[in-house]
Amino acid sequence: MIRVAAVGDIHLGPGSAGTLRPAFDTLHEQADLLLLAGDLTRHGTAEEGEVVAGEVAGLGVPVVAVLGNHDYQSDQEAEVTAALDRAGVTVLEGEGTVLDIGGVRVGVAGTKGFGGGFAGRSGGEFGEPEMKDFIRYTRRCADGLRKSLTMLREADCAVRIALTHYAPVPDTLAGEPLEIYPFLGSYLLAEALDEGGADLAVHGHAHHGTEHGMTGEGVRVRNVAQPVIGRAFAVYHLPVHAGGAAGDGGVTARAGAVGAH
Ligand SMILES: [Fe+2]
Ligand SMILES: [Fe+2]
Repeated sequence: MIRVAAVGDIHLGPGSAGTLRPAFDTLHEQADLLLLAGDLTRHGTAEEGEVVAGEVAGLGVPVVAVLGNHDYQSDQEAEVTAALDRAGVTVLEGEGTVLDIGGVRVGVAGTKGFGGGFAGRSGGEFGEPEMKDFIRYTRRCADGLRKSLTMLREADCAVRIALTHYAPVPDTLAGEPLEIYPFLGSYLLAEALDEGGADLAVHGHAHHGTEHGMTGEGVRVRNVAQPVIGRAFAVYHLPVHAGGAAGDGGVTARAGAVGAH
């Protein structure tokens, strides 16, 4: 059993130091790794990146992150990434990483992702160059996710997890206004999940969405935006069957500590 803690949209600012640390300090008792699903800062400044780094340094479990749109706001995403890196956090963008957790190879594939919308309601690579660029960027993110998941399969990972900021499915957006769905995620990310294969996909970004969803091929999707889960982090249990294959049993969720947002 692999216990995956996850949270996104913690939106820490200059005065946030210490707000999540008490909950994160107990995380190792409940989980084997922590996934951060982007929007870790409010405005993506280097200073805010240092605050995030201070909250997640030295937790005693591996921490893997993607950035969110807020983390790009000040054009200092490289500085935010560097601060997290110094704190021992693996920041993924179109890449995968393999963790050894008690002898089980756990792969995490991550990309921020981007928008565009969902089946029948999506933008396309047509018309103005700005519109083409928009969808091509989403496609590049999705391609990175697909390739990373494929790489993790070839690396014999017993458990594979996809980590994004933007949503791959509309299920986990329920509660958000329909008008903004195209800015909350893209079906291209779900296609990548279904083609690459994953035991669990976690994302954030949709603060007013819903925790549980699923892709067309049955990949479980969880919106872990902190306002959605209502606590410092959610924990999902992924069974690992004998022989190293990831289980196809249900993903069970357990409450983490009380959170703040
Ligand atoms: Fe957010
Ligand atoms: Fe966001």
